[in-house]
Formats: sequence, C-alpha cells, structure tokens
Amino acid sequence: MRASGHRSRVQEILYGSASLVYDAFVRWAFWPLGGEAACRRLFAQWLAVEPHQKIASLCCGTGSTDRAVLASEATVSIVGVDLGRSQLARARKLDSTQRIDYRLGNAASTGLASDGFDRVLIVGALQEMPRVQRMAVLGEARRLCRPMGRVLAVEIGRTESRWTSIWRGAWLLHWLPGNPETLTTRDLVASSLRSEMLAAGFELVDRFTTHPDWFEGILARPGPVG
Ligand SMILES: C[S@@+](CC[C@H](N)C(=O)[O-])C[C@H]1O[C@@H](n2cnc3c(N)ncnc32)[C@H](O)[C@@H]1O
Repeated sequence: MRASGHRSRVQEILYGSASLVYDAFVRWAFWPLGGEAACRRLFAQWLAVEPHQKIASLCCGTGSTDRAVLASEATVSIVGVDLGRSQLARARKLDSTQRIDYRLGNAASTGLASDGFDRVLIVGALQEMPRVQRMAVLGEARRLCRPMGRVLAVEIGRTESRWTSIWRGAWLLHWLPGNPETLTTRDLVASSLRSEMLAAGFELVDRFTTHPDWFEGILARPGPVG
C-alpha cells in the first residue's frame, strides 16, 4: 500500500486543502439533513458514550465528530487516526480542549493496543474505500474494540425512496465524471454496511438513520472469535 493508502489523486488534493475545500464540501453534504453541527451531535448520540471511556476515531478527518463526542461527555478520552496531515493539523487547531490525541496513520493498521477501546468510531470514510480496504479497516476496528465495547460506522446507506436516492446522488456530486467516491459508495450501498460488518466479525446492536435517510449508522459489538 502507498504511504497515502488507497486514496486517489483527486482525494489527495481534496484532503490537502482541508481547511478550504474539504470542510466546505462537508458542510454542503450535511446541509439538507439539518446542518453539519446537528448531524455530528446525532452521531455522538448514536455512539452513546459513558463517562471515562476510551474512544478510537478511525479516519477522523478534521475531527468534527470527535469534538461533538467530547462535548457530549467531557470525561472520555479520544485518539483520532487519519492519513491526512492537513486534516490532523486542522483537527488539532479546532480542538479547543487540546485533549484529543491525533495521530497520523492508516486506519487499517493503527498500531494501537488490541482490545484497548470502549468505542470505535468511523464516519464517512468507508464509503470512499474499495471493498478490500473497507474490510481491512473494519477488521482493525474489531481488533481495537473491547469485548463489551461498541463500534459505530456511519456511512451513506440504503434509502427506502428512489427519489431520495436520486436527490442524494445529485447533491453529493456522484454524477461528476472522475468523482472517486461514486463507485465505492455504490459498491458499499449494494453490498450494505450491515453485511460487511457481519462479515468482519461483528454482531449488530442497532441501526440508525438521518432524516432524510442519506446516512445510516450501524452500531455493533465484536462477535465471538473464530
Ligand atoms: C470523507 S473524510 C471523513 C472524515 C471524518 N470522519 C468526518 O466525518 O468528517 C474521510 C477521511 O478518511 C481518511 N482516510 C481515508 N483512508 C484512510 C485510511 N486508510 N486510514 C486513515 N485515514 C483514512 C481521509 O484522509 C479523510 O480524512
């Protein structure tokens, strides 16, 4: 794997401009769902942290969900891992508490301790990876998660409505030639996040959706080994 993982040149440029294009696009993506801040608070609720828990945030980007989680429960400790230097620089800058531990690394092999975390969080990242990479990241999430812990993955999911699917694809620029996320997102939706988490050795605990149901959150626990 390249030092930058599987990411395409387009993604390299997008992530390299973290403070400019990237955050603006993320705000755009969440706008029809009530705004980014509201969605991040929702994801933090789905994660359902308890006091003093340890959380690993894989592919943390600029840390928006991490800050929402910390705001929901100030006593948790969070380690965020991302391949993007500029993502992490912005995440550190935006963390007014300076309590979140941001590390440069590949979410498929973080080097963090096995069974070291009560919660593992992945938001909006699997949808941009080829399937083999998604499975590697989910496998790493399972390794990091304590037996009684929980993993929450939030990604573009199946929607009940054809109209929602068309509107979402148009809004998120999936029609744009060369959009590196179009094929991987379609593949994830076809295969389903739920199925991939089961294949990675998880047992499902709950499923959540945004309104409208553009994103789904699958909350899972590690299944029996073997
Ligand atoms: C669409 S962004 C989502 C970021 C963040 N989770 C959020 O909700 O805003 C995807 C992030 O995943 C990171 N990423 C992609 N593949 C990765 C990998 N293999 N290891 C670590 N980070 C990765 C990218 O650098 C980018 O910051």
